[in-house]
Amino acid sequence: MAKRSKQRAAAKKAAPKKAARKKAAPKKAARKRAAPKRHVELVYKDATCKPTDDHVEGPYYRPGAPPLTDLYPPDSRGSVLHFEGTVSDIHCRPVHGVSGEIWQCDEKGRYDNQDPAHQPAPDYFRLRARFAIGPDGTFRLRTVLPANYTVDDPGGNWTRVKHLHFKFFAHGHQPFTTEIELLPDRHTRSDKLYNPHLAAHLQEAGAEKGLPAYRACYDFVLKPVSMKGYALAAGRLKPQR
Ligand SMILES: [Fe+2]
Repeated sequence: MAKRSKQRAAAKKAAPKKAARKKAAPKKAARKRAAPKRHVELVYKDATCKPTDDHVEGPYYRPGAPPLTDLYPPDSRGSVLHFEGTVSDIHCRPVHGVSGEIWQCDEKGRYDNQDPAHQPAPDYFRLRARFAIGPDGTFRLRTVLPANYTVDDPGGNWTRVKHLHFKFFAHGHQPFTTEIELLPDRHTRSDKLYNPHLAAHLQEAGAEKGLPAYRACYDFVLKPVSMKGYALAAGRLKPQR
C-alpha cells in the first residue's frame, strides 16, 4: 500500500510539468509564425564584435576603380594620410577573401566626377581604388587627407565632416557600404550625416616630402549572411514574392 501511495504522489508531482509543457507549445508556434520571410541569417546574439554601421553611398560612387594601395595623386599637394584597417567577423576573427573599395574627395573637397559639365573618361579614376584585405584581416592605404565639402541643400547648405567612403564584399557576409569620418573636425554638430560610431582620430605621423602626414585606423566588422542572402544582397538573385 505504502508503495502505491508513493507512486500516486510521484504522479501528482509530474502532472504540473506536463501541463507546463502543453502551455509552452503555443508560444513555440507563435515564434514560428513570427519568423521573418528573409534569407538573411543575422546572428548577433553571441557577437563579441559589433557590426560596423552602414552609411549612405552618396552621389559620387563609380564602379570599376583600379587595384591600388597608394592612391595619392601625383599632382596633389595635400597632406598625406596613411589609413590602416582590419576586417573581422562578429566573433572578432579575420575574414578571408574580402575585397574592399575606397573613394574620396581630394584636399580641395572635390571628387573626380563632381562637375556635371566635365565628367572623367570611363577609364580615368582619381582617388578611387579597390584593394584586397590580407589573410590576417588587415589592409593599409596611402592617400591624401580629404577636405570638407559643402552639401547644397534647399533648407540651407551644410558642410560634411572629412571622410572616406568604403565598400566591402566577402562570401558569407553581407556586402555593405560605409564611411569613416576623420576627427578632429569642427563640423561634427552641423553635418547631418555624421555618425560618431564611424569616427577615426587622426594622429600626426611626421612629414613626407615636406607635406604633413597623418595616420588613422579603423576596425570594420562584417555582418554574417547566408550564401542565398549574399546573392540577394549582391543583386545576383531576385527576391521571391
Ligand atoms: Fe563624400
